[in-house]
Amino acid sequence: FEAEQYVPFSIEDVNLDFQILGPKEEPGQMDVILVAVKKDTINEYVNAVREAGLNPIIVDVNHFALENMYEINYEIEPIKNVAIVNIGASTINMNILKGGISVFTRDSAVGSNLHTEALQREFNLTYENAERLKRGEPIENIPPEDAFSIMDLASEEIIDDISRSFEFYRSTELHEDINEVIVSGGCALIKDFPKHLSEKVGIETKVIEPFKNIKISQKFDSSYMEEIAPIAAVATGLALRRQGDR
Ligand SMILES: Nc1ncnc2c1ncn2[C@@H]1O[C@H](COP(=O)(O)OP(=O)(O)OP(=O)(O)O)[C@@H](O)[C@H]1O
Ligand SMILES: [Mg+2]
Repeated sequence: FEAEQYVPFSIEDVNLDFQILGPKEEPGQMDVILVAVKKDTINEYVNAVREAGLNPIIVDVNHFALENMYEINYEIEPIKNVAIVNIGASTINMNILKGGISVFTRDSAVGSNLHTEALQREFNLTYENAERLKRGEPIENIPPEDAFSIMDLASEEIIDDISRSFEFYRSTELHEDINEVIVSGGCALIKDFPKHLSEKVGIETKVIEPFKNIKISQKFDSSYMEEIAPIAAVATGLALRRQGDR
């Protein structure tokens, strides 16, 4: 088994899985995706889920979850390149789909914590208060406009990182452009973030709609569901999986 040479950790410390993508042109060869995750990392997640009283049955990768979420909600156009940009608190997962199939993924270690930290520094706030101000709650008589202008600076930093990944994608052997950007994750909820991103990269940008094709029970408050939608994109992709599926 060749996996060992591709995994930068001891093979005993990781969980491995793979998926065969299809045969290659050369006879007897095929493309395979190999996923390796440190057992410690998986255990942390599994414990968190168990502590919440739930029983985890499937483990998946952000990028694959986003791809599955996209597949059920969006019409796949064969010639279209769509960049799904998932911006959380401390990471960006970028997944570029060509005709609905992932052709490029990249993670970077920046996220919307930059907004929170900028507010903390500027207004000398605790993390909790900065998080509330970020969501538009009034804090210590700070005028919302002042908070927005500080947040815009942090947005710029995040957008620069995204632009660099786009540049990188364009410089790969694919040499292709991106036709549409879809933002997900909590950062999509920052005022004007999608607009700024769109202006900076010059590509039409939408906020993810993970429940577009999903019927939602009346017992859930619809305005709440709308608000959490961008944050629920990965979770939706995960929830689409079933035990034993492939
Ligand atoms: N309503 C909101 N308005 C502004 N920002 C928000 C809102 N809700 C969440 N956020 C921000 O979004 C971020 C969390 O987003 P998300 O849940 O996608 O990240 P995560 O998956 O927990 O983080 P990571 O992927 O980095 O581990 C936090 O920085 C949070 O402050
Ligand atoms: Mg996340």
